Amino acid sequence: MKVKKICCIGAGYVGGPTMSVIAQKCPDITVTIVDINEQRIAAWNDSDLSKLPVYEPGLAGVVAEARGRNLFFSTDVDTAIADADMVFISVNTPTKTYGKGKGMAADLKFIELCARQIAAASKSDKIIVEKSTLPVRTAEALKSILHNTGSGVNFHILSNPEFLAEGTAIEDLHDPDRVLIGGENAEAVQALVDVYASWVPRERILTTNLWSSELSKLTANAFLAQRVSSINAISELCERTGANVDEVARAIGTDSRIGPKFLKASVGFGGSCFQKDILNLVYIARSYGLQEVAHYWEQVITMNDHQKHRFADNIVQTMYNTVSGKKITFLGWAFKKDTNDTRESAAIYVADALLSEEASIVVYDPKVTAEQVYADLDYLGTRTPAENRRLVSVVGDPYDAAERAHAIAVLTEWDEFKTYDWHRIKDHMMKPAFVFDGRKLLSGSKLDELGFQYYAIGE
Ligand code: UDX
Ligand code: UDX
Repeated sequence: MKVKKICCIGAGYVGGPTMSVIAQKCPDITVTIVDINEQRIAAWNDSDLSKLPVYEPGLAGVVAEARGRNLFFSTDVDTAIADADMVFISVNTPTKTYGKGKGMAADLKFIELCARQIAAASKSDKIIVEKSTLPVRTAEALKSILHNTGSGVNFHILSNPEFLAEGTAIEDLHDPDRVLIGGENAEAVQALVDVYASWVPRERILTTNLWSSELSKLTANAFLAQRVSSINAISELCERTGANVDEVARAIGTDSRIGPKFLKASVGFGGSCFQKDILNLVYIARSYGLQEVAHYWEQVITMNDHQKHRFADNIVQTMYNTVSGKKITFLGWAFKKDTNDTRESAAIYVADALLSEEASIVVYDPKVTAEQVYADLDYLGTRTPAENRRLVSVVGDPYDAAERAHAIAVLTEWDEFKTYDWHRIKDHMMKPAFVFDGRKLLSGSKLDELGFQYYAIGE
C-alpha cells in the first residue's frame, strides 16, 4: 500500500501545520486539506501569507513552498475524500456543553459527522487516520459507522495522535521526539509509517495497538499539565515562605530523573488540549468506576483553576482591596507566546474575575484580534456582550494600553514585552504603578529600580 493522495478534514491549528509539513516533506504525495469553514479556507489560500488563519513561526515558509505544488486547501470535502487513499480526521473535539458528560466528556459530534461523510463519499478502500485527540475506544465508533455503509468499501482505522505544541509546531513536526501510530492492520500501519519515514528516523516512529495510541495522547498531556500544576502548587508555598519558585525549579530540574522542562510557574496553563484531555481522562476513569483514578487527575485541573483565581485575587488585594473603576492593562491574551490561539487562556478567566470587581481592562496582544478577545469573554456568559465591550478595550499599541493604567498584568510570555521602554511606561501610569507578572517574564530588580511595585508568581 503506497499512499499517493491524502485528504485532511479540518484546517485548524493541528490539521493545517501537520499537513503542510507532510506536503513539504513528501512532494510525491498530493495533500488536500478541507474544511467546512469557507472563510478559513480562503485565508489558507490567501496570496498574502501574513493572512494565514493560524499564526505559527515558520508556517508561512512551509506553505509558500508546497501550496499549489502538492498542497491544496478546499471546501469541496466530498471530492477530496473520494480521491484520497488516506483521510486524516483533524476536526475539533471540544468538551461537551450539554447532556451526559457535560463539562467533562469530549463532544464527538464533529467526528461522527466526518465518519458519516467519509462513508457516503467513498467509492474506494481507504485508510482513516484519527488525528484529533479522542477518548479511548473512539475508533470503535468510527469503525461501526464506516463498516455499516453496505457499499462494499473497506476502511482501516489508525490512530496517529499529534504531539506538536503551538508556537513550536513546525519545529516539532520537522524533528519530533516520536511519532505514534496505533492500528490493527499491519499494511495500513506500514503505509502511514512510510509517509513519516520520509523525514523522521525510523526508530522514532512507534507503533502500538489502537487503544494504547489513543490513551497515550491523553496520558502525555495529563503528565505535562500535572508538572505545571505541581510547580504552581509550590509557587504558592514559595510566596508564603520566602523561597523562590524559579530557584526551586532549577534545583529540582537538574535532577536528571525529574528534568528541567515544564517547570515554569505561571498564572495557569491554557490551550485547547490540557484541560480538555484531563477532563476526558477523568470522565473515562469514572465511567469505569475508578473513582480514585478520576480524583487523582481531577486535582490537576483544580490546582490550575486555583492558580488563575489566586492571581486575580492578589491583584485586588494588593490594590487596596478594590479595583472598581481602575484601569488594568493586560499584556498578552494568547494562552502562550508565538500563537494567536486563545482557547482556555488564563487571561480570559483572570479578566472575568477582575471584571466582576468592576475593573476596566485594556488588552494588548501582538497577535490576537479584538474580535477574538470579545468572543472569548462573551462565550463565558458572565455578562452581556454590550457590557464586555463597555468594560474591555483592545488596542494595537502597548504604550497606549498602559496610558493612565493603575496596573499592568502580564498574562502571556511574549518576548517583545521584555524589550519595552519600561521607564516610559511608568511615567504614563497612575502611581503607585503596579506590575503583576503572571509569567515571571520581566526583570523584577529592574522594575523595582524604576519604581514599580512589582509582583511575580512564586516570589
Ligand atoms: C482540534 C482539537 O482541539 C484537538 O484536540 C485535536 O487533536 C485536533 O483538532 P485544532 O486543529 O486546534 O485541534 O482545532 P481547530 O483549530 O478548531 O480546527 C478544527 C477545524 O475543523 C476547524 O477549522 C473547523 O471548521 C473544522 N471542522 C469542524 C470541519 O471541517 N468539519 C466539521 O465537521 C467540524
Ligand atoms: C500541548 C502539548 O505540549 C502537545 O504535545 C499537545 O500536542 C497539545 O497540547 P500546547 O497546548 O500547544 O501543547 O502548549 P504547551 O506548550 O504544552 O503549553 C500548555 C500551557 O501550559 C500553556 O498555557 C503554557 O503557557 C503552560 N505552561 C507550559 C506553563 O505554564 N509552564 C510550563 O513550564 C510549560
